[in-house]
Parts: sequence; C-alpha cells; structure tokens
Amino acid sequence: MKLLNQKITILIAALSLTAVLSPPNAIAEDKKAETKSLYERLGGQAAIDAAVDIFYVKVLADDRVNYLFEDINMKRQIAKQKQFLAAAFGGPVPYEGRDLRTAHKSLDLTDKHFGAIAEHLQASLTELKVDEKIIGEVMAIAASTKDAVLNREPKKE
Ligand code: HEM
Repeated sequence: MKLLNQKITILIAALSLTAVLSPPNAIAEDKKAETKSLYERLGGQAAIDAAVDIFYVKVLADDRVNYLFEDINMKRQIAKQKQFLAAAFGGPVPYEGRDLRTAHKSLDLTDKHFGAIAEHLQASLTELKVDEKIIGEVMAIAASTKDAVLNREPKKE
C-alpha cells in the first residue's frame, strides 16, 4: 500500500510538472507570434513585393518626387527596394545594394521628399490591408533611415 501511495504521488508530481512546462496551445501560439520577424508577419517576400510595386506606382505619379527617378532604371530600383526592405524587416536574404547614405547623397533631398516617400509607403500598406500595428513598425524602420537618406549627422542623445 505504501509503495502504491508513493507511486501515485510521483505520478501526480510528474503530471503537474508537465502542465506547468507545456502551456495551453493559445499561449504557445502567442509566444510564436511574438518571436516572428516583421518580414514573416507582413506575409513574407510576396507581400513585400506587392507593397513595393504599388509604392512605386504612387511615387512615379507624384510630382514632388518623380523627377528624381527620370534617369533611373526602375526595374533595378524596384528590385533593390524589395531586397532592402525585406532585409530590414528581418527577412532571410541580405541587402546587397549601396548603403543608403551613398545612394542618396547626390540627390539633395529634404524633409519634404522624405515625407512624400513615407506617405506613399504607408498608403501602399494600407491599400493591402496590412494591420495598423504592423504598419507602425514598418514606418518606424523607414523613419530610422532618415538621417542617412537625407545625408544628415545622426542626432546625439
Ligand atoms: C524610407 C526611406 C528610403 C529608403 C529605405 C530608400 C531605399 C533606397 C534603396 C535601397 C535604393 C537603391 C540603392 C542602390 O542603388 O544600391 C535607393 C535609391 C534611390 N532612392 Fe531611395 N530610399 C528612401 C528614401 C528616398 C527618398 C526620400 C527619395 C527621394 C524622393 C529617394 C530616391 C531615390 C533615388 C532617386 C534612388 C536611385 C539613386 C541612383 O541609383 O542613383 N529615396 N533608395
């Protein structure tokens, strides 16, 4: 009897430990969502490609910025932008283009240019019905490139 009691105690202890160590599915799913990259949560390369295609239609229709792309090979530009954003969002393929400061240095860009580009990026994601919180994360990453794109010294803390 004593032995049986001991065995039962051990079994109960083992079951309790399993319950603590393996959370219910919903919690496990939440944890997975938290650790997913922005790239994955956006929908991967296909979703980024779709957003960048819509984005450049908007950019090229906007007189505030389209003159800057007159002599640019847009096929190449679109490919670079897709690669840059995918990498910046945590995607698996590294960006191989020029760094943003070098690429934009000779363009004499201002806050107005940057604002127009950010506006089109946001509108493209909204059009694709991307979740507002995810759009916020994308816009924060876009904003983090501003000093480089406008060739400014990064602000000191
Ligand atoms: C969110 C901010 C921006 C990002 C992430 C971005 C990203 C890029 C990338 C990845 C390239 C390709 C670099 C290469 O050739 O290797 C590029 C080039 C270029 N970007 Fe941007 N850009 C931003 C803002 C702007 C703004 C505000 C403008 C002007 C309105 C602009 C105009 C251009 C032009 C004209 C080129 C082509 C430069 C050349 O090939 O000589 N970009 N950008």
